Amino acid sequence: MSQREHFGSRFAVIAAMAGSAVGLGNIWRFPYVLGEYGGAAFILVYVAASLFVALPIFYAESVIGRRSRLDTYGAMRKLAPGSAWKWAGLLTVVSPLLILSYYSVVGGWSVEYLFKSLSYSFTGNSTEAEVQNFFPQFISSTWQPLVSHTIFMAMVAGIVLGGIKKGIERFSKVAMPLLFVLIIVILAYAISLPGSFAGVEYLLKPDFSRLSADAVAAALGQAFFSLSLGVGTVLTYASYVKKDENLMVSGVETAVSDLVFAIIAAFAVMPAVFAAGIAPGSGPGLVFQTLPFIFNKMGQGMPLLSYLISISFFVTILAAALTSAISMLEVGVAFLVDEKGFKRRSATLLLAFCTWLIGVVCSLSFGPLSEVKLLGLTFFDFLDKLCSNWLLPLGGLVFTLFVGWRMKKADVHDEFTNAGSCNRRTFPIIYILIRYVAPIGIAIIFLSSLFL
Ligand code: PFF
Repeated sequence: MSQREHFGSRFAVIAAMAGSAVGLGNIWRFPYVLGEYGGAAFILVYVAASLFVALPIFYAESVIGRRSRLDTYGAMRKLAPGSAWKWAGLLTVVSPLLILSYYSVVGGWSVEYLFKSLSYSFTGNSTEAEVQNFFPQFISSTWQPLVSHTIFMAMVAGIVLGGIKKGIERFSKVAMPLLFVLIIVILAYAISLPGSFAGVEYLLKPDFSRLSADAVAAALGQAFFSLSLGVGTVLTYASYVKKDENLMVSGVETAVSDLVFAIIAAFAVMPAVFAAGIAPGSGPGLVFQTLPFIFNKMGQGMPLLSYLISISFFVTILAAALTSAISMLEVGVAFLVDEKGFKRRSATLLLAFCTWLIGVVCSLSFGPLSEVKLLGLTFFDFLDKLCSNWLLPLGGLVFTLFVGWRMKKADVHDEFTNAGSCNRRTFPIIYILIRYVAPIGIAIIFLSSLFL
């Protein structure tokens, strides 16, 4: 255990954690959810959900990870020896790999769109119909999306193979600042488009009548997915964090970066959508269908600008997806290395291959396998529902109950306050949030999955 790697600096910790958090969820899901549930009013609910439910879960995972310095399964085994908790830990080895299998398919789409942007497809050379139809044709074809999925997974494996310092840390330290710069450039472009103001209004106009129980559940679900909670990524990354780092500060910095990025993305995406006169919808169509349409339209007047913007946009999506995907793979790799004595190389290759294989079925479920249904859903949608609505909250529940009710309070205090040297005043509040409030928030997600 002595040669366990560590993140090299505070910035590296934040870049990696925020890298896991900032992803496809911020770019295609948040803008839509924000508009749908009352714009500015929703931000209040979202911030409350983050403060009272999401952050406490983040802290619970951080405490377990850094205390044990092990993978999710090993952590539970070490901190609750001889109990069944380790099996709950094993669940959170499996769930990020399931997410990765379909996340990689969408990551692959961004690879394809980047190639398309590079080859001048969205710069005024295509007809509107060509750009609109490309997405459904592409995702429902057999081979093209599989090739992109393979390229994406190979990139993920390549980074994780490099290890914590030379792989994950190095990549995240470059990708994260780049992401922020690029999304701001895209934001500036989007709000300069004629007609974009309707999009700004859609996002800003607070509509308190939309703040139903549904909105609370949506805020909780979005916070969960966006902060990568309940799947052991925070736990695993925290196991590489040095003992003198302040866990509370890194949690707040990660959550704030994630929220700021999501808001900027919303103001970059929605004004462009409105400028093009398109109704906002959720899902991949928003970024893969609508935005290329806009780039192409603008490209008829300003080809160079739209060329550069469309490349920047798909680089942003790709980089955001990669920094999230590597955190998902790392959970399983840490498990095989810590628990089963695997070398990092073989663990990475084996898991990347298995998740790639499941991803192949996900990819085909848009085309040749679209008629194969599980509980009325295609394989891709089924996995997404299973993970977002059930496995993530379940994992979150496991972590909060473990820290709130199974670990000794003194140990939790010791880890959260760095042996009493910081966060002593906030600890009692955080502890109550972990013990009572977060589990109630999770129960709301389960109930809304069942009944809403
Ligand atoms: N937080 C990522 C996003 O917003 O796209 C998604 C995610 C990453 C979920 C890592 C789960 C995970 F383990």
